[in-house]
Amino acid sequence: MAKTIVGVDIGATSIRAVEVAGAGTAKPTVVRVGTVDVPEGAIKRGEVVEPNTVGNALKRLWSTAKFGSKHVVLGVGNQRVLARDLTVPQQPLPLIRESLPFHVQDLLPMPVSEAVFDFYPLRAEQQEQGAVVHGILVAAVKETVMTNLSAARLAGLKPIGVDLIPFALTRLMSRTEAGQGRVVLLDIGAETTSFVVAVDGIPQFVRLIGMGGSDVTRAIVSRLGMSETDAEAAKRALGLTTQGVREEHRPIVEVIYDVTGELITSVRNTISFVGNAQSVGSLERIVMSGNASRLPGLAAALSDFTRIPVVVAEPFDSVAMKGSAKKVDGIDTGSLQVALGLAIGAAA
Ligand SMILES: Nc1ncnc2c1ncn2[C@@H]1O[C@H](COP(=O)(O)OP(=O)(O)OP(=O)(O)O)[C@@H](O)[C@H]1O
Ligand SMILES: [Mg+2]
Repeated sequence: MAKTIVGVDIGATSIRAVEVAGAGTAKPTVVRVGTVDVPEGAIKRGEVVEPNTVGNALKRLWSTAKFGSKHVVLGVGNQRVLARDLTVPQQPLPLIRESLPFHVQDLLPMPVSEAVFDFYPLRAEQQEQGAVVHGILVAAVKETVMTNLSAARLAGLKPIGVDLIPFALTRLMSRTEAGQGRVVLLDIGAETTSFVVAVDGIPQFVRLIGMGGSDVTRAIVSRLGMSETDAEAAKRALGLTTQGVREEHRPIVEVIYDVTGELITSVRNTISFVGNAQSVGSLERIVMSGNASRLPGLAAALSDFTRIPVVVAEPFDSVAMKGSAKKVDGIDTGSLQVALGLAIGAAA
């Protein structure tokens, strides 16, 4: 059998992994899936802060899920990762990559020496001053990438790649019907919302918004003095309810509206910004993923506010599933999209 690859998503709430055979081919097959919870404090806002603890969690995950490969692709995509449009003089890609530190100092929220860079070229253009390439610059805090890699290595795994989560999502969603055409791919997690405008599967614009579902829960806890468990349950049950709200639930719904409203506004502003800045044309739909996108009423509110239809992503429909991957108890594929996207497209 061909070698398999495991995509590993170190999310703010848990680690998820998906093993794929034929990852680089047109017909990838999901072989096994698994998730593991990580003790509180080991991961903060999607970044590994205790590599040993996370390494141990990964070891546990490999022994329980019985993955057949140690070759992993890791994701980066928290709010300390920057993705910006950048235009540079046309050169071979390795030279563009080398020149990045000189182009980006002003754009970065950190010193160049503390960052790692990549460049995703989109299109070339002849300008008066010469040929240029428009593309997406990705800059991540070196330390974040290194701690993720060291956690994986401590677990005896062999990282074969690190990829930007929005790129992984684009690769995956472009295989689905909803991902065709001019779309927004919106993955709403606990701490981070990944925003991509893609045209026919090619990312044109990427933003990582440092907001997600846990901001709603935290606001209910801090403003209303509820326990975290109650706040989480109330959030999931009430969502953006508009009708028939019981009197005692009104303050909770107000907080949910308030905090979710900020996120929706941020998404709408980003969409307007892209519309003004880039020639992508009108957007056909928003494809939502991430567990926080399950908030009742969110899809309708987002669609009302942006005037763009909103659909829920079904990425697992686009790949074959082996029996061994289907029958894992308690795993819901709605949480595995990033891990699957990371594995797909990686060369086996
Ligand atoms: N049914 C639901 N309704 C509303 N919110 C939900 C529901 N289920 C889960 N959530 C929220 O989804 C969030 C977790 O989403 P997800 O699992 O996609 O995040 P993550 O990948 O762990 O984090 P991140 O992507 O930010 O690193 C939590 O804030 C949780 O409260
Ligand atoms: Mg996530």
